[in-house]
Amino acid sequence: MTDPDGFWREAAALIDWYTEPETIMDASALPFSQWFVGGELNTCHNALDRHVDAGRGDQVALIHDSPVTDSQQRFTYSELRDLVARFAGVLRSVGVGKGDRVIIYMPMVPEAAIAMLACARLGAVHSVVFGGFAARELAVRIDDATPSAIVSASCGIEGKRVVEYKPLLDKAIELAEHDPGRSIVLQRPQYEAPMTERDLDWAEAMASAEATECVPVAATDPLYVLYTSGTTGKPKGVQRDNGGHAVALRWSLPAIYDVGPGEVMFTASDVGWVVGHSYIVYAPLLTGATTVLYEGKPIGTPDAGAFWRVIQDHRVKALFTAPTAFRGIKKEDPDAVLLRDYDISSLQTLFLAGERLDPETWTWASETLGVPVVDHWWQTETGWPIAANLRGLEPMELKAGSPSVPVPGYQVDVLDVDGTELPRGEEGAIVIKLPMPPGCLQTLWQDDERFRESYMSRYEGYYLTGDGGYVDADGYVFVMGRTDDVINVAGHRLSTGSMEEVLAGHPDVAECAVIGVHDAMKGQVPRGFVVLKAGVTRGEDEIGPELVALVRSEVGAVASFKNVAVVPALPKTRSGKVLRKTMRQIADGQDAMVPSTIDDASVLDTLRPVLQKGPQGS
Ligand code: COA
Ligand code: AMP
Repeated sequence: MTDPDGFWREAAALIDWYTEPETIMDASALPFSQWFVGGELNTCHNALDRHVDAGRGDQVALIHDSPVTDSQQRFTYSELRDLVARFAGVLRSVGVGKGDRVIIYMPMVPEAAIAMLACARLGAVHSVVFGGFAARELAVRIDDATPSAIVSASCGIEGKRVVEYKPLLDKAIELAEHDPGRSIVLQRPQYEAPMTERDLDWAEAMASAEATECVPVAATDPLYVLYTSGTTGKPKGVQRDNGGHAVALRWSLPAIYDVGPGEVMFTASDVGWVVGHSYIVYAPLLTGATTVLYEGKPIGTPDAGAFWRVIQDHRVKALFTAPTAFRGIKKEDPDAVLLRDYDISSLQTLFLAGERLDPETWTWASETLGVPVVDHWWQTETGWPIAANLRGLEPMELKAGSPSVPVPGYQVDVLDVDGTELPRGEEGAIVIKLPMPPGCLQTLWQDDERFRESYMSRYEGYYLTGDGGYVDADGYVFVMGRTDDVINVAGHRLSTGSMEEVLAGHPDVAECAVIGVHDAMKGQVPRGFVVLKAGVTRGEDEIGPELVALVRSEVGAVASFKNVAVVPALPKTRSGKVLRKTMRQIADGQDAMVPSTIDDASVLDTLRPVLQKGPQGS
C-alpha cells in the first residue's frame, strides 16, 4: 500500500510487453484509474505463445475432463496455441477485428476457452454468457455488447439432460434488436442443431482457417466484458483491461493459490462466471500451469466421488470451487466413504469462494480432506481475490467464517452509514479505498455514469463492494452478506430485480417481491410473493406454477426459482418501498427489524405466517 508503483512494476516483469509501460498507475482521474499506461501487450501471447517459445510447448496446458460425455482430452501448449491461432483466423474471416465484441455462449467445452483466447489474440473483446441463462437474458447482453459475431454450441449436458443451446441462441437473436453478424456453432454429437444461413460450422470453419498472429493492444484496452447481476434487472457489463488483468492474475496464482508453472489447478466452476474466466482460463495459462476444465457436477456425474477422481487422474495440486459443491458432496456422502477409493495425495489446498463459507462446511471439508481449506472473498468486479490467506506468500492461521486478510493492493475499510470508519469488530459496509489494484473493473461497458453511481458515489474515495461485514482485532475480514438485492444461489450471483421484472410481466400480477432466503444446500434460494390484480379469480394453485415456469424460461434454470406465494398485500414503507429485508429476516427466523416508517403494520402481521412457513415443498 505504501509503494504500489514499485510493487506492481516488479509484478509486471512477469508479463511479456511489446512496449514497456511508461506509467504504472494513473490515478489522476479517480474514481477511474488506469494501469500500465503506455504499455503494449497481447494477453493470448502471454497465455500461450510465450510458453511455447520458452520450451513449454509439450507440457499439457488444458485438460478437458467430461464425465457427462465419458471423455478426457489433453491439449499441450503448442496444440492449444495452434488451435487458438486458427480460431482467431475464423473470427477474422467473419470480420472480427480489434475492439470488436464477440459473445460466447457455450457449455464447458475446450472450444469455449479457445474462443476466449482467440478474441484476446485479435484484440477483440469477448463477452461470455453463462449457459444456464435463458434466451431473454442472452438477448439483453447482445443488445448491450453489440457483438460482431457469436460463438456457440449445439448443446450442453447438465447431468443426464441435454440442454439445447442453439434454439436458445436463435430465439435470443430474434429477441435482440442488434444484429450480431455470423454465429459459429460447435456441433456436438449429443444434439445436431439445424443450421441457418447465419451459422458457420465450427469444424468446417477450422478446417480451412488460417493461423493468425497476436495483435498488440494497449494495456488499457478492454480484454473482456462480463455481465453480472446488479440491483436492477439490467445486468452490469464489467469491463476488464488487458494489462492490469494479466499482471494481477499472473501475480495471484503463485502468491494466493501456491500454483506455479507446470503445476495443476482444478477450478470447478464455469467459464461463464468470473471464477472461470480468472482461474480456469487466464491465471493458470498466464502462469504456464495446467488447468482442468471440468464438464460435470460435484455429485451425480456419476457420484459424490467425482472431484476425488479428477484430483487423482490429473494429480491436481489446488482445487477451487464454491462451498455449495461441498455441501452437495457432504449430503450425498456424509462420511466421505467414496474418498477411500481414490489417491488424492497430490492435493495441497482447497480454495472456496463465491458465497459465504459456513463454519460447518469448512470443518467438514478440513477434516475430510486433511488439507488447509481456504476461504477467500472476491467479486466479478474485482476479478481476483480481495481477501485471502496467501498460501504461496505468507500462509496465516485460518479462522472459521473469515476469508482471512486483505490481499496486497486492496485497502479494505468498514464504514457506517455516514461514511465514518468503524472500529475493529463493528459491522458496516465493506469498502475498498481508491485506487483499486490492477485487474479490477475499469468501468461498466459504455456506461461510466452507472459505474460511478453503482460503486463510487455512496462514499467519496471508496469503492462500495455491496457486502456488509467487519474486520476483527487481528485484521481478519468477515463478510456477512450483501447489503443490496443481489442474491447468491449455489454460488451463482443473481438479481432479484430481474425475477421481479418477469413476475410483474404476468397479466394477473399487480405487485411482486422476490427475496433470497436461506437454503441448506444452495446457501440461498429465491422466494416470490405476488399480489394479484383486482378481479382475478384464479388462485395460487394455477398461477404459481405459471410464474415458476415463466422465470425458468425468461431468466433461466439457474435461478432455481421454485417458490411463489400469492399474498393479499406487500409490506411497505410510507414512501412505497417494499420491506424486503424485513421479509427476509422473518423467513430466515432472525430477529426482524421493522422500520418505524412502515405504512401498515397489519400487512406484515398477515404475511408473517406465510414467511415463517418456509418454501412450499421444502
Ligand atoms: N446450462 C444449462 N443449465 C444449467 C447450467 C448450464 N451451464 N448450469 C446449471 N444449469 C441448470 C441446472 O441443470 C439446474 O436445472 P434444474 O432446475 O432443471 O435441475 C439449475 O440450472 C440449477 O443448477 P445448479 O445451481 O448447478 O444446481 P444443481 O441443482 O444442478 O446442482 C449442486 C446442485 C449441489 C451440484 C450445486 O449446488 C452446485 O455445486 N452447483 C455448481 C456450483 C458452482 O459451480 N457455482 C459457481 C462457482 S463460482
Ligand atoms: P460474483 O460476482 O458472482 O463473484 O459474486 C460476488 C459476491 O459473492 C460477493 O459480493 C459476495 O456477496 C459473495 N461472495 C463471494 N465470495 C465470498 C466469500 N468468500 N464469503 C462471503 N461471500 C462471498
